[in-house]
Amino acid sequence: MSQNGNGFHSNGNGFHRGSDSNAPVRVAVVGLGYWGPNLVRNLYELPEARVAAVCDADTNRLDTIQSRYPAIPGTTSFDSLLEDPTVDAIAIATPVSTHAPLCAKALEAGKHVFVEKPLAATSEEAEALLALAAANDLVLMPGHTFLYSPPVVTIRDLIANGVLGDIYFISTSRVNLGLHQADVSVAWDLGPHDFSILRYWLEETPSHVTALSRGCVIPHIPDVTFINLEFESGAIAHVELSWLSPSKLRRTTIVGSEKMVVYDDTSNEPVRVFDSGVNLPNPESFGEYRLTYRTGDIVSPHIAASEPLFLELGDFCRAINGGETPRSSAELGLEVVRMIEAVDASLADDGSRTEVAANVPA
Ligand SMILES: NC(=O)c1ccc[n+]([C@@H]2O[C@H](COP(=O)([O-])OP(=O)(O)OC[C@H]3O[C@@H](n4cnc5c(N)ncnc54)[C@H](O)[C@@H]3O)[C@@H](O)[C@H]2O)c1
Repeated sequence: MSQNGNGFHSNGNGFHRGSDSNAPVRVAVVGLGYWGPNLVRNLYELPEARVAAVCDADTNRLDTIQSRYPAIPGTTSFDSLLEDPTVDAIAIATPVSTHAPLCAKALEAGKHVFVEKPLAATSEEAEALLALAAANDLVLMPGHTFLYSPPVVTIRDLIANGVLGDIYFISTSRVNLGLHQADVSVAWDLGPHDFSILRYWLEETPSHVTALSRGCVIPHIPDVTFINLEFESGAIAHVELSWLSPSKLRRTTIVGSEKMVVYDDTSNEPVRVFDSGVNLPNPESFGEYRLTYRTGDIVSPHIAASEPLFLELGDFCRAINGGETPRSSAELGLEVVRMIEAVDASLADDGSRTEVAANVPA
């Protein structure tokens, strides 16, 4: 049984594609709207992959991509990919409501699947997909791109190596103007990024959430959500998500007992480690506390300039060829869906403190 850095285990069967396991994986990309062209570009550059086909139901979008990549076959029919023996895997970048039906069809046809975040629109759908992938010995990988972001990995190493000490709390803002989505709330659109990052950093799923939101522009689609998360370890987190903000913020503060970190994904110094903290010496007499505040050096570690999506798709191809569970595993994808469902349940119950459904057993 293999184990990845998340503490998740593969199903023990390994994921194999036959004897020719060093050959590039032939991937068809479905959904060529805003995000899908990035999948095509990165797969095109990736030595471990070949873009076997591109697919979109909208001929204009298909034509745009095919004018850029004339040698790649194109189709408007998803079903035609399922019958194509030259397609090993399907990468899906379609709207969230279509994820589960398209993934299920692909897995049933024996294709490995990469699907953009979130894995599915409900945890029932996600669980069914995990079962289908395991039964057919296929890779199912949700696209939690930030798990491959070099700053995020740097912070994960700082936490895992104990440099920050015990994590007291994490506070994060992911806000900008737009893009309003027609079919999902801001929690389903942007929440998967922060939830997957927190899961990766803390190696635990929150036990409880409370949430508050408002649909400011379209009343039934929340475009701002404030979420509080509690973890069994004692860590707490606050996540602010919004499509309504004058400037783009991607800013996270991590406060540990030893050091603190500010992660600003829009900065050219994205990670700054502060040797700051508070010492609480033993009180000299009962009730007397003399706190000492520490403000030491600020270090900005060197961060590799790699594109997260390129690294992520490489992990997908290696999972297919090598049998290792990808860092962005299906189990992690399911846990993220459960976290967002807990947010929705809290919102539906006037912001009540809501338990997150049990973790996937390791
Ligand atoms: N990882 C990231 O950072 C990131 C960023 C943006 C979007 N996304 C994800 O990518 C996915 C797509 O988002 P988007 O903003 O590109 O959406 P979009 O609406 O711009 O594009 C979706 C495309 O899918 C096509 N499509 C829908 N159903 C289809 C079908 N059955 N067969 C073929 N084509 C079909 C549509 O015609 C459209 O061109 C979402 O899951 C979203 O969450 C991920």
